[in-house]
Amino acid sequence: MLPTDSTKKLSFNRCIGDGDLVIVYERHDSMKAVKVCLSSVLQNRFGVFKHSDWIGKPFGSKVFSNKGGFIYLLAPTPELWTLVLSHRTQILYIADISFVIMYLEIVPGCLVLESGTGSGSLTTSLARAVAPTGHVYTFDFHEQRAASAREDFERTGVSSFVTVGVRDIQGEGFPDEFSGLADSIFLDLPQPWLTIPSAGKMLKQDGILCSFSPCIEQVQRSCESLRSNFTDIRMFEILLRTYEVRQGKVDSLPHKRKKHSNEVSNKQDNQSTAAVMARPCGETRGHTGYLTFARLKCLS
Ligand SMILES: C[S@@+](CC[C@H](N)C(=O)[O-])C[C@H]1O[C@@H](n2cnc3c(N)ncnc32)[C@H](O)[C@@H]1O
Repeated sequence: MLPTDSTKKLSFNRCIGDGDLVIVYERHDSMKAVKVCLSSVLQNRFGVFKHSDWIGKPFGSKVFSNKGGFIYLLAPTPELWTLVLSHRTQILYIADISFVIMYLEIVPGCLVLESGTGSGSLTTSLARAVAPTGHVYTFDFHEQRAASAREDFERTGVSSFVTVGVRDIQGEGFPDEFSGLADSIFLDLPQPWLTIPSAGKMLKQDGILCSFSPCIEQVQRSCESLRSNFTDIRMFEILLRTYEVRQGKVDSLPHKRKKHSNEVSNKQDNQSTAAVMARPCGETRGHTGYLTFARLKCLS
């Protein structure tokens, strides 16, 4: 669980306990979330791991199987959770999430409104960003999705910073009780322009809205709607290039040339040394969506 310590800071400075959620890390592209249970085992290609061996170890520990294979037990941070959660919808990934939190100026204590909740990928990071004194109110009109998101927020330990509401935000707008109280609003809806007038009423003066849309036509309609009450309208597409870092071998004398073609190469020519190498991953994720930001116009 994402815990608050006695000073109300989010921290994992404690040991793994029975019932905790851990991220079992085999390698960067092979991770999964597991709930620790004293009597359970985890079985994978590296052998059988007893959960009882994990209890009492700090998060980050390397643990061994009956065959000597190993895995790491990592804390379920929002960054890792985004990589292992079950996709009930399309989700936001780390590059977009981090940009959104920065550009919406979300800090501890903020009140943030969001719709739709979807799989809760963004919400989990929003919750950590506003903790320990702020709150995220997130809405989805799909009851089952809202219920599953609530369960996930319990599992990841952020539930005290998030309230999930079931509501048709495009049809009804955000609830009036938030009028003028929101520091920022995030929309990931099919027709965000229908919600923009309500969002304008909910924001504090100078508050910021962000709308995520996969299609440029959605952005155009949103921008038309934004123009009446918002200013500083900006649009971004975040493209991420990932590099694979691995240990490899390089020729230790790559530039040494032979003086004569019939010269016998000396022993060193054939030697190679170990080096850390980085190269772009073949499967870089391309377009996810467009992020449109706008600031509420100042009335005075
Ligand atoms: C793409 S998902 C959001 C994913 C989310 N940003 C994440 O990172 O996990 C869009 C969500 O909007 C919800 N939605 C669509 N129309 C809605 C409406 N009118 N009111 C509330 N939620 C709506 C859908 O049920 C869906 O769960």
